[in-house]
Amino acid sequence: MAGPLSDRIALVTGSGNGMGRSHAIVLAERGADIIVHDIEADAAAETARAVRATGRRAHALVADIRDVARFTAGIGEAEAALGGVSILVNNAGISGGGRKIEDVDQAVFDDMFTTQVRGAFFATRAVVPGMKTRRWGRIVNITSTWALSGFETMSHYAAAKAAIAGLTRSWAREFAPFGITVNSVAPGTVETRITLRSLGKDGIRRMAEEAPLKKLPEAADISWAVAWLASDEARIVTGQSISPNGGQVIGSG
Ligand SMILES: NC(=O)c1ccc[n+]([C@@H]2O[C@H](COP(=O)([O-])OP(=O)(O)OC[C@H]3O[C@@H](n4cnc5c(N)ncnc54)[C@H](O)[C@@H]3O)[C@@H](O)[C@H]2O)c1
Repeated sequence: MAGPLSDRIALVTGSGNGMGRSHAIVLAERGADIIVHDIEADAAAETARAVRATGRRAHALVADIRDVARFTAGIGEAEAALGGVSILVNNAGISGGGRKIEDVDQAVFDDMFTTQVRGAFFATRAVVPGMKTRRWGRIVNITSTWALSGFETMSHYAAAKAAIAGLTRSWAREFAPFGITVNSVAPGTVETRITLRSLGKDGIRRMAEEAPLKKLPEAADISWAVAWLASDEARIVTGQSISPNGGQVIGSG
């Protein structure tokens, strides 16, 4: 079926579970073929099945994003199978885990930045040459409201997301001459295993009660923002941040 993303190839990192799976399915419903990436093979296979059920093609790339050589070689193999990536969603991430500074040792800090910031950096580095050649590309970086507002028990997570926001702004300038836009989507609190682990069901419920709209986003709310930024309708939007968050954070994009 033709859609606004027809025949685009999208790579969604960390799309085996949670919001990444939702992004993969929504992009496929709008016509894109999907490179499903995750460290968890079964989860990636499940998302790939869901993508194929929409009628689009899927390629499962199982790799630890912290292993840059293996991960980027896998991107090359996936592009050989499906075609050059024109939409990249830098989504793979790990939970901040509700840690005060005393609970963040060097290993925890490094893992956060290696997974989130270095992962997004080298995923982008792998696909940008092809986007430049084709003179069309969409990069959507997943950040967080906590990078905008701060969060008292997630400073290393908020810092990693703020670093990604810095990548968005710099890449928007660097890649603009090649028809490539780069934007951030900063989800509010979405119930996934990340937030169930760090906040718990009660914590998430309390946040919903405190949100101006009295509800929090669902994964699809985030995916719709991603899909719009990936489309031609957003051709003039670059270097920006959209935060679907129920009003949790207002006015600090
Ligand atoms: N859930 C929220 O409220 C929320 C809010 C703001 C931002 N985010 C961000 O959204 C993104 C998706 O999170 P989610 O809530 O869907 O969590 P999730 O745990 O369901 O999804 C994260 C995915 O990344 C994968 N991943 C983790 N480490 C990896 C690695 N080393 N190599 C390859 N894949 C790896 C996981 O296997 C998983 O499939 C993350 O970047 C997260 O920080 C989440």
